[in-house]
Amino acid sequence: MGRRTAVVTGLVAVAVLAGGSAVPASAGRTVRDPQQQTLRGLAERHHLAVGTAIDVAALDDPAYRQVAATQFSSVTAENVMKWETLEPVRGRYDWAAAEEFMAFAEANDQLVRGHVLVWNNQLPSWLTEGVADGSIDTAELREILHRHITTVVQHFRGRIWQWDVVNEAVTDSWDSTGGAIGYKGFWYQHLGAGYVADAFRWARAADPKALLFYNDYNIDAFGDRGPLDKTAFVHRMVKDLRARHVPIDGVGSQAHLSTRYGNYSAFQIKEMLDGFAQLGVATALTEVDVRNQLPDNPTGDTLNPLLQAQAYNYSALMQGCLASRHCLSYTVWGFDDAHSWTNTWDFGSGVGKEAMAAVLDEDYQPKPAFRALQADLAWSGPPMVLPRVPQRPIR
Ligand code: G3I
Repeated sequence: MGRRTAVVTGLVAVAVLAGGSAVPASAGRTVRDPQQQTLRGLAERHHLAVGTAIDVAALDDPAYRQVAATQFSSVTAENVMKWETLEPVRGRYDWAAAEEFMAFAEANDQLVRGHVLVWNNQLPSWLTEGVADGSIDTAELREILHRHITTVVQHFRGRIWQWDVVNEAVTDSWDSTGGAIGYKGFWYQHLGAGYVADAFRWARAADPKALLFYNDYNIDAFGDRGPLDKTAFVHRMVKDLRARHVPIDGVGSQAHLSTRYGNYSAFQIKEMLDGFAQLGVATALTEVDVRNQLPDNPTGDTLNPLLQAQAYNYSALMQGCLASRHCLSYTVWGFDDAHSWTNTWDFGSGVGKEAMAAVLDEDYQPKPAFRALQADLAWSGPPMVLPRVPQRPIR
């Protein structure tokens, strides 16, 4: 199907998805068929925000805009709030793309997750090269980070619901030296682990009301709680930060999954989320997607089991989040297969291509995963599923 046809079909799909057809219910009342309701509408009664990452370039496509506006109550900038985009030249901030994103969110009454203040990737070259050639020393680097956090958080002050303050600061089991999870990356190498607490304190000073999050992948469930359990490491880190009165309000589990792995049940997801909530922080699923290793010559017989496995994983994450009252938002990292980051990512040797990670196909048509999310949101409620508990920013 060509893109022109795809757009038309997509708009039809959106119209149907956002429509209001009613079906009779046994008790004499009429209820709207969940398949005709939007994710954001279905999530309202749980006080759960359902979000998506937004590819700002794709907002030129009216069908993309319409799905993004109607299905989601929260949005995250996929790339345009990252440091390389905001400050490509030292000292000169360019807010244009980020403001285009913010205008979209504000026009559609959507909550914004700010992404991301401190990360090892997508840093401007003037910064990484300056550190590499010695023209930026450690003291100056720390001051540069302080200034960046302050400038960005103050710029968006009052408009951001949750900030990803520190992202992906720790190792995975496969790259941990010394047989234990530890800190990793550019900021740790140059500033030591203390930068994490500094970053939260600087962010709080710049916006007293935003919820401040630590965000990471492969923390979707606890493992054996031993030295190579990344979730347990992050749990200890957050506990320590809270004990030191560092203003951290939340933990984001990215939840980038692949159907190649066994992954987790809703019970394991809930256990992880509850574990963080017990520390006094809110939680969020921040970058959900479930990619598939593509068969050589895809047919219904080879694709359908993958789509079912994908739906199970999306659903387990949603059910775990619904069951944990401090899980405030469920954000997908892109909603359609045409715009997913997985299409161009190299997942390493021996893995081959992994894609088809989103809940809508490349023509914006619902996949089984989308239907599973609608069902989870529709057919859940008291006594097991109760509305979210709002989180107050700590000082
Ligand atoms: O901006 C350049 C553009 O000028 C150039 O023409 C083009 C050519 O490839 O590349 C563009 O940059 C790309 C950028 O996305 C913006 O589109 C980079 O190559 C590409 O690597 C980059 O990928 C992003 C990735 O983060 C970078 O690490 C993905 O879109 C984005 O989805 C992904 O998001 C991350 C989260 O921020 C953190 N958690 C993991 C998640 C998935 O990797």
